[in-house]
Amino acid sequence: MQIAIDGPASAGKSTIAKLVATKLGYVYCDTGAMYRTVTLMALRAGIDVHDADAITARLPELRIDFRPTADGQQVLMNGDDVSLAIRQEDVTNNASAVSAIPAVRADLTQRQRDIAAAGNIVMDGRDIGTTVLPDAELKVFMVASVEERARRRFLDNQAKGIDVPVEVLEQEIAARDHKDSTRATSPLKQADDAVRIDTTHMSIDEVVTEILLLHDDREQTA
Ligand code: DC
Repeated sequence: MQIAIDGPASAGKSTIAKLVATKLGYVYCDTGAMYRTVTLMALRAGIDVHDADAITARLPELRIDFRPTADGQQVLMNGDDVSLAIRQEDVTNNASAVSAIPAVRADLTQRQRDIAAAGNIVMDGRDIGTTVLPDAELKVFMVASVEERARRRFLDNQAKGIDVPVEVLEQEIAARDHKDSTRATSPLKQADDAVRIDTTHMSIDEVVTEILLLHDDREQTA
């Protein structure tokens, strides 16, 4: 089965998607990590993140792999572990510009479909249910208030030793929501057949349980 989990920044998608995949024994694909890796490649190469041609020209030689580890997975850029580097603020804040480039989206969409073709998968992102896997048997659109998402990112950051005030995070999240929802190619949008889950007042366990119930329900009706 294909499970698509979409939603805005910091709604808890990757935490939940990872747990759901582990429980079901499915492959997990974090598509945001792929956009972040392209962004990191551009920043490291000194390419302007708005320079669509220069970024697109580098894509054929950019390898992005996921390597399973005991507690999750590593993201590899041409064989190098960039799992931490792609979570830094400069990558986070420039990823919206890079992910608005149509040729980048086309390239990564193809890579994501190839990964999904291998079998049962949980894939999270912004356009999985609408564009990448429009036939996914289960589509979830996960949302949470801006304040709650900023609070979660603040706690995540603290654990990683990154120090950004919560008010700044709220502004960044709101700005990213706006950019992700208004871009011309594959904007963030709930698929008509997606189940909307507002996680503002839900625990991680509650959200995972709800998705597993939806999964079992789909499996019985398939
Ligand atoms: O989910 P995330 O914060 O790791 O995503 C990083 C960036 O990539 C964010 O600006 C949205 C973008 N993105 C996208 O445009 N399409 C996806 N399927 C996944 C992420």
